Amino acid sequence: MLMPNSSPDLRKAATAARENAYAPYSNFKVGAAMRAASGKIYIGTNVENVAYPVGTCAEEAALAAMIVAGETEVIEAYVIADAPEPVPPCGACRQRLKEFGKDDVTVWMGTTDGKEEATTIGDLLPGAFDAGYMARS
Ligand code: THU
Repeated sequence: MLMPNSSPDLRKAATAARENAYAPYSNFKVGAAMRAASGKIYIGTNVENVAYPVGTCAEEAALAAMIVAGETEVIEAYVIADAPEPVPPCGACRQRLKEFGKDDVTVWMGTTDGKEEATTIGDLLPGAFDAGYMARS
């Protein structure tokens, strides 16, 4: 199936965010961009730490920027890295995306050399835990 291209503004924003990655330990720079319900785009990049588990993901940073700005709904996401194939969000970031986006929200994954794939939040995290399970609490 022919995949439509992502919106250039979202890809551009994720690409610019990636430029500022702080990734001296993995050398793997990631950029993320979230289009929120208002149409505004929020960006993030990975921030590593010498204590490795303390590092944070690009998606995490972009979602945090969106929350700081007072928005709580993602309507389209983009993640970019220099990789042989488009890189999907890690498990924790799938749960973070699920918190702020509906299952049918498109998550674009791009490589710096132009490969692009699309998936959705629902496909990234099937069977997700949500508030419905806490109905008796
Ligand atoms: N990373 C992200 O920022 N997002 C992803 O989707 C995959 C992984 C970062 C975390 C770490 O700084 C580096 O990439 C290597 O795992």
